[in-house]
Amino acid sequence: MLVGIVVGAVNTPCAEIVPQLGLQDAPPGASPLGKSVVSPVTGCITAHVGDGLTGGTFRNDAVNCTCCAGDNPTGTVAGAEELDRFLEKVPDHVIVILDEAYSDFAETFAAIRGVEYSHSLNYVHAGRKVVVLRTFSKAHGLAGVRVGYGIGPAELMTYFARMRTTFSVSVVAQAAAVAALEDEAHTRKALENNAQQAQRLTEGISDLGYRVVPTWANFLYCELGEDAAAVAKRLQAEGVIIRALGPWGAPTAIRVTIGTPEQNDIFLKAFKRVTEKVTVR
Ligand SMILES: Cc1ncc(COP(=O)(O)O)c(C=O)c1O
Repeated sequence: MLVGIVVGAVNTPCAEIVPQLGLQDAPPGASPLGKSVVSPVTGCITAHVGDGLTGGTFRNDAVNCTCCAGDNPTGTVAGAEELDRFLEKVPDHVIVILDEAYSDFAETFAAIRGVEYSHSLNYVHAGRKVVVLRTFSKAHGLAGVRVGYGIGPAELMTYFARMRTTFSVSVVAQAAAVAALEDEAHTRKALENNAQQAQRLTEGISDLGYRVVPTWANFLYCELGEDAAAVAKRLQAEGVIIRALGPWGAPTAIRVTIGTPEQNDIFLKAFKRVTEKVTVR
């Protein structure tokens, strides 16, 4: 919704919308400029920004959507330095949207891994035309309440505010968001669980012989090397729903949400059962 508001505010006939990475509704590779790439060095999928920027691609009022903190569905991040380099190349007239839906998870992983994940707020403070979007749907557990926020230059934000529909965020949603911000214990628990369970789930799936991309979000991208939709169907028959990534252009990959220890136990047992069936055939 927030991306829609920003894009709608500048959507003149010559506006150009360039999703750099795999937003949920835009499969990686859907844009000639945006994609996740397989690193020839590690064999891992990594988020990658900045492709094609030298080609004079930006028109007058281009909006550039860049998903930096937890690309969906790969779970990778572009990295603070890569994003710095990307922004150096972006012309001043271009508004860059940094979708940080998974920033809480990414920050936690960055702290564990001893790296910086993003300088997004520095760009805003430095007066860049950068809008950082965050949501309460992920670490704060309010998916379905439909509440999030944007951080950007005051002048731009006043234009975007005018694009909101009346009562776009209900008072109930606002109250939930404020309560979520105050509930640090819940957020800490969610982030700790995610970090611990990401490791456990990654090991569990890897032990079964599948490749898992190191995640910065609350889900894992797993390469199965076989028809993912068929595996998803068999899992569903076991009562477990995961996402087969055919519609994202990855027909042999799945996205698995990181759950509680109990939920992950159920997933791992069911996953072992359904993939064993494949091996036997
Ligand atoms: C990268 C990304 N951005 C934004 C969103 C949407 O968040 P919201 O629930 O606030 O619409 C999602 C949800 O899956 C997402 O994966």
